[in-house]
Amino acid sequence: MPITYRPIALDEFERFDLAEARGFSAHPDSNSEIKDFERRVFEPERSVVAFDGDLMVGTCGSFTFEMSVPGGAKLRLGGTSHVTVSPTHRRRGILTEMMRRQLDGYRERGEPLAALWTSETVIYGRFGYGLALMHERREIDRRHTAFAHSPDIGGQVKFVDKKEAAKVFAPIYERACEMFPGMIGRNDLWWEAALADPSAMRNQAPALFHAFYEVDGIPTGYVMYRVRHNWNDSLPDSIQGSRVGIHELVASDDEATAALWRFCFDIDLVNTITAGGGVPIDDGLTWMLADPRRLTRKPYDGLWLRLVDVPTALSARTYAEEGSLAIEVEDSFCKWNDGTWRVDGGTEGADCAATNDEPDITLSAGDLAAIYLGGAKPSELARAGRVVERTAGSLGRADRMFATARSPWNLVDF
Ligand SMILES: CC(C)(COP(=O)(O)OP(=O)(O)OC[C@H]1O[C@@H](n2cnc3c(N)ncnc32)[C@H](O)[C@@H]1OP(=O)(O)O)[C@@H](O)C(=O)NCCC(=O)NCCS
Repeated sequence: MPITYRPIALDEFERFDLAEARGFSAHPDSNSEIKDFERRVFEPERSVVAFDGDLMVGTCGSFTFEMSVPGGAKLRLGGTSHVTVSPTHRRRGILTEMMRRQLDGYRERGEPLAALWTSETVIYGRFGYGLALMHERREIDRRHTAFAHSPDIGGQVKFVDKKEAAKVFAPIYERACEMFPGMIGRNDLWWEAALADPSAMRNQAPALFHAFYEVDGIPTGYVMYRVRHNWNDSLPDSIQGSRVGIHELVASDDEATAALWRFCFDIDLVNTITAGGGVPIDDGLTWMLADPRRLTRKPYDGLWLRLVDVPTALSARTYAEEGSLAIEVEDSFCKWNDGTWRVDGGTEGADCAATNDEPDITLSAGDLAAIYLGGAKPSELARAGRVVERTAGSLGRADRMFATARSPWNLVDF
C-alpha cells in the first residue's frame, strides 16, 4: 500500500503522541501536566504525518517562531519537531518525503528560516540543515571560583516567585534577543514552558530557584538554577556531589553576567557548579576566573538551521564589514535556492539578488546555514573542504562580513 501524507486534526493528537513516542522507542508521557502542555502548544495544521493505510507510521510537526538574526532583525522561522518514522517503516524514504512537504510548507507560509534540535548529527545535512550554533557543558569546583577580573558589581540579587518570574525575566530575555543572533522569541506559552519545570521531567532533581540581579531598581539579568544536595556526613568539606545546576543565566550587560555567576559560585553547602546550553559560550567567564584551568568546558552542537529562502535570509541580516560577495549555493533539496547570489551588505543592512557573475565562494545550503548566524567561520569550513574560494581574497572577506559581535545562542528547546 502506498504511504500517504496529511496534516492531522487536534483530536488525533493522542495517536500522534503514541506514534512519536514509539518512534523514539519510548512510551507516551503519563504525566498529565506535560501532556496537556504538549497538546496546547501543538499546531496541528503544521503537522506532516505519514500513513500506511490507517496506521500512523511517520510523525513530523513544527512551531511558529521568530528568530533574531545578526543586526537584530527577527525572521519567521519554522521550528521543526516531533520527527520520527516507525521502526517498522524505516529507510524507505518516509522522512525524506516528510521533509520535502514540510520545507515546501515553510516556503508557502513565507518562513525564510527553519531550525531543529537533532537526535543524531548525521540525519539533516542532506536536507540542507547546518550546525549553526554550539553550546558547552561547564563544571567547576566551588573552591576555585575566585575572580581575578570582573566588572564592578554594585547591584543586588533578589529571589522572585515562579509565578512572578516571567514578568521580570521577559524584558531581560528580549534584550538578549537583540544581542545574540539565533535567539528564538518566547510568547506567553513558551514562557510557561520555560518556567514549568514539571517534576516528571526532572529525574528526581529538586525544583528550580528563580532570581534576578538589579541595579537601581532595574533588573538586568536573571538566573534559574537548582541545587542537588548530597550530604555524606556532617562535615562541610565532605559535601560531595552537592551541586548548583544553572538552567538559564541571561543578562543584558556584563555586570549582570558577572554578578549572577558570582551569586551561583557563592551559594554555600555545595561543591560543584555546572551549566549547559543555558549560558552563552562567550560570556567571558574563563577570563574572569583567577584559576581558569579549573573550569571545564565541553562543546556540543546546539541548533541546526536551514535557510528556506536564501535571498530573504541573506538580505535580512547585517554584515560586520561593508562588502560584496557572490555566493554560489548548492541546494539540491530546495532547488529554488540553487545558484549564485550576490550580497551587498554592511552594518546598516544588505541587499541580495541572483547574479550571473562568477562566484567568489561556493558552499552547500547547510554550510551557508552554519555561517549565517556567525557560529562558524567560512575559512574554518574551507579548511575542512566544505567552502571553496573561487576569487582570491574572498574567503577573508566572507569571514569579516559574516562575523558577529556575539556568538549565536538559543534557549528554546522544542
Ligand atoms: C531518523 C529517522 C526519522 C529516519 O527516517 P527514515 O524514514 O528511515 O529516513 P529515510 O528513509 O527518508 O532516509 C533518508 C536517508 O537518510 C539516511 N538516514 C536516515 N536516518 C539515519 C540515521 N539515523 N543515521 C544515518 N543515516 C540515516 C538513510 O539511510 C537515507 O540515506 P540514503 O538517501 O543515502 O539512502 C528514523 O530513523 C527515526 O525515527 N529515528 C528515531 C527517532 C529520531 O531520531 N528522530 C529524529 C529526531 S531529531
